[in-house]
Order: sequence, then C-alpha cells, then structure tokens
Amino acid sequence: QNNDRESMMVLSAFAQKYFTDTLFNHVDGKTIGMSYFRERGFRDDIIKKFQLGYCLDTRSAFSQYAGKQGYKKDFLIKTGLSVEHNEALFDRFHGRVMFPIHSISGRVIGFGGRTLKTDKKVAKYLNSPESEIYHKSFTLYGIFFAKKSITQENRCYLVEGYTDVLSMHQAGIENVVASSGTSLTTEQIRLIKRFTTNVTVLYDGDAAGIKASLRGIDMILEEGLNVKVVLLPDGEDPDSFAKSHSVTELKQYIADNEADFISFKTKLLLKDADNDPIKRAGLITDVMHSISVIPDTIIRSVYIRECSKMFEVAEETLIQEMSSLRSKKI
Ligand code: CTP
Ligand code: MN
Ligand code: MN
Ligand code: MN
Ligand code: MN
Repeated sequence: QNNDRESMMVLSAFAQKYFTDTLFNHVDGKTIGMSYFRERGFRDDIIKKFQLGYCLDTRSAFSQYAGKQGYKKDFLIKTGLSVEHNEALFDRFHGRVMFPIHSISGRVIGFGGRTLKTDKKVAKYLNSPESEIYHKSFTLYGIFFAKKSITQENRCYLVEGYTDVLSMHQAGIENVVASSGTSLTTEQIRLIKRFTTNVTVLYDGDAAGIKASLRGIDMILEEGLNVKVVLLPDGEDPDSFAKSHSVTELKQYIADNEADFISFKTKLLLKDADNDPIKRAGLITDVMHSISVIPDTIIRSVYIRECSKMFEVAEETLIQEMSSLRSKKI
C-alpha cells in the first residue's frame, strides 16, 4: 500500500536525522561514534554528505523517542528500526554507527549499522530487513550520490562495501556504488545500465573478492555491458588502499591495473596453469564461456579474435567451440 510506503519513508528520514543528530551533538555520539569515524579517517564533509549517524547503545532510546513523536509501532517494526520482544520495542541498531541507504532519488529506505566491537562473534554489519520500501536486490549503496558522476565519466566503479564508497568519494572518485550485503544481482546491473555501459569491478583483494569478481564479470557481460576488473593487493579493499595511499597513487593504481575481463581471468588462472596443456585448455574454455554470454555477436567475435591471439589457438577452432557453447545454453 502506497500510504504505508510513504509512512515508512517518513519514519526512515526521521530516524536518519535522529542518528545524525546523536552523532554530532550527543556526548556518546561524539565520543564513541564520531571518534570511530575520525579514527578511520573520514572527513566531516563526507560524514555529512552521506548522512552518517550513531545509534546510542541503550535498549530503546530511539524506539521510545520515535513513539513519543507519534511514529507507529507497526512501521517501526516493518522498517526493522525496532524489534519487538514481549510487546516492547528495542533498538535493532543500538551501539552501531549508521550508514543510511538512499533510493535513486535520495530518500532513505534502509540502514547498515556497523558494530564498534572487535569481537568476531558479533555481526560486523547489521542491515535493515527486506521491506515494502527496501528491496536489497534492487538497491545499490551510493547510487544517488554517484549517478551524476557515472554519467559524466561514462563509467561506474563497483565495490563491495559502505566504507569503500565513502573513501573513494573522499579521494574525489564519485562514480562508485556498492552491492553491499548481497551478491551482485541482475537488477543491480540494470540500475547501472541506466547511466553507463562501462563497469569496473573493484572488489576486495582476497579470495572472496576474487570469486565474487569472477561471478560478477559473467553477470555484467550477460547484460551487455563492458566490464573491466582491478585486482587490489592481497588483503586490501578500496577503503584501506585509499587510506594508505595518496589520491594520485590510488588513481594511478587503478589506471595501471585496470584489465579487461579476458586478461584478468587469464592472469589469474594462468598462475596455476603454467604450461600444463590440460589446465591451459581449461582456462581457454573458461574464458570462452564468459565470451559466450555476451549478447552482441560482433563484440563476441572481437573477443574471440583477441583470445585466438592470446592463446595461439586458431580462430576457426574457437568459433566452433563458441557455437557449441551457445547451443548448450539454449
Ligand atoms: N556485509 C554485511 N554483513 C556482514 C559483513 C559484510 O552486510 N556481516 C556487507 C557490508 O555491506 C560490507 C560489505 O558486505 O560493507 C563488505 O564486507 P567486508 O569487506 O567484510 O566489510 P568492509 O566493507 O570492508 O567493512 P569495514 O571496512 O568496516 O571492516
Ligand atoms: Mn516495492
Ligand atoms: Mn571482504
Ligand atoms: Mn572490505
Ligand atoms: Mn574495509
């Protein structure tokens, strides 16, 4: 129901203002929340632009205040801002720094909350539940703040997390979004496609990030977009890299390491394929599989030619392999 959606968005905007006000003005907000953001090196302008906040570490300060302001229990629960236990409401995000998630038109539709604890048993991030206003698989973190720059630059950087988006903005790179919390979906790729056909995947430089990049590449190609990949040094993510390097170094690293998907896969898989002919053949099949999902015939044939040169395999052979791969898919 549209009325409910509107009520939930009004409540989410109210919550964002409350969490931001707490961060800037409440003693705990300043000493705990703001200190955390400062330690991580986030500037004030970025904290303000992204409307970051802090949810007090009490059982129900937010829920009670919202109730007093007339916000209905039903919506507090539906937005996931409060959780109900024995008829009483508790603050889902208590003790966490808050990252509001904005719709493409800039309205707050959900939150990510990061714990300040280092205890591995506590979930690092808690996110708003799926609701009438927040559909995770249709949402990209940062899209509202990125869309203008994505159009201008005709490219979108895709990162994993909230802080990666913030740090890239802080470094002056604003055409960046995160799939945060879900593995990349087709709907998220279509959202990017409204602004550009060029995507650069910039995931964490760890095993999980590489695996997600490989999966993301094929999904992006399937939607007919061009995809490049930047592999970060082991253990780094865009946030940590941006914090330990200058803006110039970050931009230079991206420029030097931006690889098209064939080179990326090849470099990665060749590491353990060396000169083993069977492994090499497996690698070629793998790259051919990625090419086979590209909808455009001409683009496919350009990549096949590149592949043929790179692996020193006759183009004819690859073309045959391609038709067999594509007939299997249908
Ligand atoms: N994520 C999540 N729940 C978790 C862990 C991660 O929703 N328990 C999502 C968050 O959106 C997070 C992203 O996945 O930003 C990437 O995860 P990770 O790389 O582990 O976190 P960072 O973004 O690097 O967070 P930080 O730098 O604050 O440690
Ligand atoms: Mn909906
Ligand atoms: Mn990671
Ligand atoms: Mn990370
Ligand atoms: Mn990180």
